[in-house]
Amino acid sequence: MTATGTGADPESLRRRALDALTVARDRTALLTSCVEDGELTAQHSPLMSPLVWDLAHIGNQEEQWLWRAVAGREALRPEIDSLYDAFQHPRASRPSLPLLAPGEARAYAADVRTRVLDVLESTPLEGRPLVDAGFAFGMIAQHEQQHDETMLITHQLRKGPAALTAPRRRSCGPVHCPPKSSSPGPVHHGDLGRAVGPGQRTAGARPGRPRLPHRHHPVTNGSYLAFMADGGYTDRRWWRPEGWAQIREHGIGAPLFWRRDGGQWLRRRFGVTEPVPEEEPVLHVSWYEADAYARWAGRRLPTEAEWEKAARHDPVSGRSRRYPWGDADPGPEHANLGQRHLRPAPAGSYPAGASPLGVRQLIGDVWEWTASDFLPYPGFTPFPYKEYSEVFFGPEHKVLRGGSFAVDPVACRGTFRNWDLPVRRQIFSGFRTARTAELD
Ligand code: AVJ
Ligand code: FE
Repeated sequence: MTATGTGADPESLRRRALDALTVARDRTALLTSCVEDGELTAQHSPLMSPLVWDLAHIGNQEEQWLWRAVAGREALRPEIDSLYDAFQHPRASRPSLPLLAPGEARAYAADVRTRVLDVLESTPLEGRPLVDAGFAFGMIAQHEQQHDETMLITHQLRKGPAALTAPRRRSCGPVHCPPKSSSPGPVHHGDLGRAVGPGQRTAGARPGRPRLPHRHHPVTNGSYLAFMADGGYTDRRWWRPEGWAQIREHGIGAPLFWRRDGGQWLRRRFGVTEPVPEEEPVLHVSWYEADAYARWAGRRLPTEAEWEKAARHDPVSGRSRRYPWGDADPGPEHANLGQRHLRPAPAGSYPAGASPLGVRQLIGDVWEWTASDFLPYPGFTPFPYKEYSEVFFGPEHKVLRGGSFAVDPVACRGTFRNWDLPVRRQIFSGFRTARTAELD
């Protein structure tokens, strides 16, 4: 992971690290304060930890890396390390552990943070790989942001009325919590003010397929509905055997969180049920569903290398860049990131974030399944710990690229590798397709 820019002076490195840690903690606070404490300890899904586990795990990782490893200080709560070690307890079993209660978990994470801010002030950000250019501070901010995405997935799986709402328009402010006693948040229909690029449908038109060539954006709900209407889920030809077995065994016939209501499809999104928007990238599909759709469409999933070339290659200079739009930090004009909207933007949005060849939404909106297994690059060595990725290498995990609307700008770039099991659908996953000799 790259923590921060290189070559910057120590004060700007410190400021950047402080900003990243603060933004992460503000989001953690939001995600763990917008429901009653009883909901923090509940098991909303066996696929996820209780939210209070994520909260104390965030503090514990910060203690282990910044307080102990960077600053060389004594463990604050050595007796809780094993509770918050992801490898000792599967997620489904975490609700029954003797976890810190919500108030204790908050106080613990806050105590660690206070100490860590002193460490950040006093530690030279050079001379050791762990701290060079602020590396470990950036790593821990990204770790917290990754758990903020995990916690947002838990919120999506949670039953009951909305606890989180966010404006749809990309010019609007951050996600916020309504008062706990309030009724479900507003349903945002239509988006009459969002800027549209050349060739797209104009605002206020009947929702439909954008006019951008489909190969330039992720596969939309509208296209996915055509696959469904064509019997995609009942035609074995399109499916890998393991994917066919999964949809048969679980009776899967649509993306997760979709429900048919008479003639139309509805989806549940953070406690609000709404018609499936045809123009948005499809979300909550497994790798098997993505792969089946691509085969039905006479196409295929891109490999990880193809995806990265589309996201980073600059045909003018021949250089690889950090993002599709260049090397500038992601701004709200480039990509749908940071949980600002809690939904993908319509396909064809964010013209300022397009690649030089006009490929849109490579960063943000939805994680994109690739054809590739999660394997080490040649010469890979883990740093600073092998449990981050090395223990997951192998053909059982597939690579996802790009980042979703739930990913913070500090935790995404054109090189970032995410992975998951091909059956997973609760993650904020979509895909785009490719054809040989023409990457989409
Ligand atoms: C990169 C999202 C697969 O959630 O397991 C969090 C991120 N690693 N804590 C995960 C992570 C350690 C990781 N993923
Ligand atoms: Fe973690």
